[in-house]
Amino acid sequence: TVEPIAQMIADRVVDVPDFPKPGIVFKDLTPLFADGEAFRTVIDDIVARYAGEFDAVVGIEARGFVLAAAVAYASGTGVVPIRKAGKLPRVAHAVSYALEYGEATLEVSEGAFKPGERVLVVDDVLATGGTAVATLDLVERAGGVVAGLVVLMELGFLDGRSRLPGREVHALMTV
Ligand code: PRP
Repeated sequence: TVEPIAQMIADRVVDVPDFPKPGIVFKDLTPLFADGEAFRTVIDDIVARYAGEFDAVVGIEARGFVLAAAVAYASGTGVVPIRKAGKLPRVAHAVSYALEYGEATLEVSEGAFKPGERVLVVDDVLATGGTAVATLDLVERAGGVVAGLVVLMELGFLDGRSRLPGREVHALMTV
């Protein structure tokens, strides 16, 4: 049996072939974001699951920002952006990681976290895990403690989870 929330996500994801590159099937979750009832359901699920376990929420550019801001608002915490290279005016730490072709860099601001602050990291999709690994590294370099990583959708066939040993990783649905 499929959990209702997983079905709710599955019913709203749109598979886009050959985006952003030939051979990649992009999982477009913006229709879920655009559905008020479904959006509230996934946000409330995340907030309830981690209630009392985090002091701040991190969103990963760009779709992660949408989710992280809502989780933070609903739980009364603050939200911290992890951004792609060159966007933040006061960079404290940068981490580069390999993409299928080339390299990407993520950055965190100076003073992003209080020392020991418990940080919940939120994103839409866990694919190869490169983005998540770099983000958790940045949170810790910046003085935060990773409370967990939560994504709406995990692409299990890419096995990103295996790159996150010992981490609390939760996906609301897995394909
Ligand atoms: C997507 C997604 C995750 C990441 C997952 O972001 O939102 O952040 O890729 O991929 P990985 O597990 O293989 O690292 P994207 O780079 O498309 O950024 P965007 O949200 O700014 O479009």
